[in-house]
Formats: sequence, structure tokens, C-alpha cells
Amino acid sequence: MLNLTEVARVESPALWHFDNFDRLRAESPIHPGDALGHDFWLATRMADIREVYQTPSVFSNHLGGLHVPDPEYLWIPEMLDPPLHTTWRQLLGGLFSPGTIAKLEPRVRGRFNKILDDIAEKGECEFIQEVALLYPNVIFMELMGLPVEDASQFQIWETEILHLPPTELERSMAAMAQVNAYFADLIAARRVEPRDDIISTACGWEIDGKPVTDDDLQSLFLLLFMAGLDTVAMQLSYSFMHLATHDEDRRRIVEDPSLIPGAIEEFVRYYSFVTPARKAISDTEIAGCPVKAGEIVWLPLVSANRDPAEFPDADKVIIDRQDNRHIGFGAGPHRCLGAHLARQELNIALQEWHKRIPNYRLAPGVEIREHGSGQIGLNNLSLIWDV
Ligand code: HEM
Repeated sequence: MLNLTEVARVESPALWHFDNFDRLRAESPIHPGDALGHDFWLATRMADIREVYQTPSVFSNHLGGLHVPDPEYLWIPEMLDPPLHTTWRQLLGGLFSPGTIAKLEPRVRGRFNKILDDIAEKGECEFIQEVALLYPNVIFMELMGLPVEDASQFQIWETEILHLPPTELERSMAAMAQVNAYFADLIAARRVEPRDDIISTACGWEIDGKPVTDDDLQSLFLLLFMAGLDTVAMQLSYSFMHLATHDEDRRRIVEDPSLIPGAIEEFVRYYSFVTPARKAISDTEIAGCPVKAGEIVWLPLVSANRDPAEFPDADKVIIDRQDNRHIGFGAGPHRCLGAHLARQELNIALQEWHKRIPNYRLAPGVEIREHGSGQIGLNNLSLIWDV
């Protein structure tokens, strides 16, 4: 029986969680587990994981994690099931379409270069704090039409909601309430005086012929904030840790930046840090194992994306991998809404950084630590370079 606090550790050496999922997959396609008194199943293979994601009629997304099977809060659209989920996705689609995101490009590039201006001459940085968390945060503020000065406050909320151990649920809930209050004020202001931003647009939406409520809008903005900030930060951190420790891959993308989009897909595959779950609506089975209605199934994307039955040399990073059909952005109806934005942010970061800082390495003597609670992510990443 797996124990959640043991499998999703509050702190571990870097990459421990990824290696552990490889080990668990090699042992069995499915494992029983306990999450603070709540039973769950862990599925480990791509075929099973993908199928669960693609079968929303049997597996609901209305849960708040393995240890929160019946949440009192709602994250829109993440915790909705079809058909309501489909309605929200149709409304949201335009805000994150390739065309809309392409228009943001110059501003995203400008923002990343501003961050580089502050660190390039220093010859060192604490990458997570100074780059990875800050960058998507600032882009989110721009996208939502929020004051960029509030980015540091959002960074604090982000850590409290997503990175505290499961035993500190109350503190996470308190931070969530603060984010909701922040958005409540903004929704009220935009209803009176609309601007050209996402919040004002969403205030005008209708669901089933009725205007969306303030509560629904708060649930949406809270989710967008959680989905859009930490994810890009963690993907950047693993990508830069990889490049700082693999000179040949770094040299190749510096010499030929056209390799960057493919390299990003491979980093998203190999370092898939999102670990979603689903709740069975009716009795079913996974990998021949009976799963009863109400039971929760854990479906870590990295376990699917490193499955050797699915990818040749699954355990190796191949930056020009062909036919890379990873599910790092999810699968089925909840597939990442922000994937175009995420890819754009990641591409710009890798392009601009390597133009200005082509050679960098890990700071010597600093152990890189990782957390696995919430999603997997690095705690620290000190990089140095010659100036
Ligand atoms: C590298 C960065 C990112 C990764 C790896 C990522 C990954 C994912 C994954 C795996 C899911 C599916 C979760 C599930 O099945 O339960 C998801 C959903 C979602 N993502 Fe992302 N994401 C990233 C960036 C973003 C960004 C920048 C945004 C923009 C705000 C965003 C917005 C969303 C939303 C709104 C959902 C919920 C979709 C739904 O429930 O229908 N994501 N993401």
C-alpha cells in the first residue's frame, strides 16, 4: 500500500519523484494507496492513464486532489464535467487561441528581456525566484489586466496554495480565500467600468441564457492563476536544470535555435510534473483491477510519458525526438487550455536567454531540492555564468 506523504514528498533530492514513478511503473500497472485516510489507486502506464483521461463519462474531475474527494470549493473549468465543462471551454477557447496568443508575443518577449536585464551582468541567479516564478506571473498580470506591482503578492499566494504539505490544508484554503477576495473586488470594479481585458470580457458571458455569477468568475480566475503560473515556472526550472547539466544539448540549441520548439516538447514529456487525478462515477476496471464508484485514481503524467511501451528510449532526453506524442499537457476534454501560451512563454525564454547567456552551469556545492506535494517541482536552482 502506497502512502501519499511517502510518494509525494514535501522535500526530496531533485528528480526523486520522477525516478520513483519509473520504479512503480516497472513493478505494476496499478497500485493501491492511502492519502491521509482516503484510499486511492495509482495507474502507471500510458495506455491506462490516457484512457481514463479520455473517458469523462466514467471518470469525473470533481475532486480537489487525492485527499480532497469532495471539495467544498470549485475550480472552473478544471473541476467541471461535461456538458457544463464543454460550455465553459467554448467560452474560454477564444481567449487562449493561437491567434490571441500570437498577438501577445512582443510583450512576452519584452518582459523576459527585462528580467534578463536585471540578472545578465550579475553572473549568477537563483533561477526559481528571480526568473521562473516571476516571468509567468508578470505575463499573467498583463493577460488579465492586473497591476504588475501585485505580481509579488501573487507569488506568495501561489506557494501557499500549491506547495504546502497536504497536512497544511487550512493555510492553503486561507490563501485561496485571499485570492478570491482580490478577484471579487476586481470583478465589481470591471462590472461598473469595463476595460479591454479578460475580466471585463468574462463579465459579459452567459451560461444557459443566464449571466455568469461573481462566484463562478472567482472560481475561474483562481483556477487560471493556479494553472498558468506555477506550471510554466516548473517547466522552465526543469528545462534549465537539464541544460545546465547537459553541455551537448545546450551547445546544440545555442548553435541552432530552430531546435528549441522540439526540445521544449521533449522537456515537457520527460519532466512532466503535473499529477492529476480522477474519481470513478461508476464501477469499472483499470489494468484488470476493479475500481468502484467513488474511488479515486491518480494519473501522474510523467509515468505515462516515460512508459517504455510508448516511447523508444523513454528514459533518455532526445531534444530532436520525432513523433513525440506525449501527454504533458493532459489528454481528453481537460487538455491544457493554456498550451499555446505556455509554449510561447517557454520558447521565448529559451531563445532570449541563450542569446545573452549561452554558457551557464549549476552553482557548485548547492544541493537542488524538490517537492512532490500538489505537483512536482524544484525548490531551488542556483545558476552561474562568466561575465
Ligand atoms: C508548461 C506549462 C503547462 C503545463 C505543463 C500544463 C499542463 C496542464 C495539464 C496537464 C492540464 C490538465 C489537467 C487535468 O487533466 O486535470 C492542464 C489544464 C489546464 N491548464 Fe495548463 N499547463 C501549463 C500552462 C498553462 C497556462 C500558461 C495556462 C494559462 C492560464 C494554463 C491553463 C490551464 C487551464 C485553464 C486548464 C484546465 C482545463 C480544463 O479543465 O478544461 N495552463 N494544464
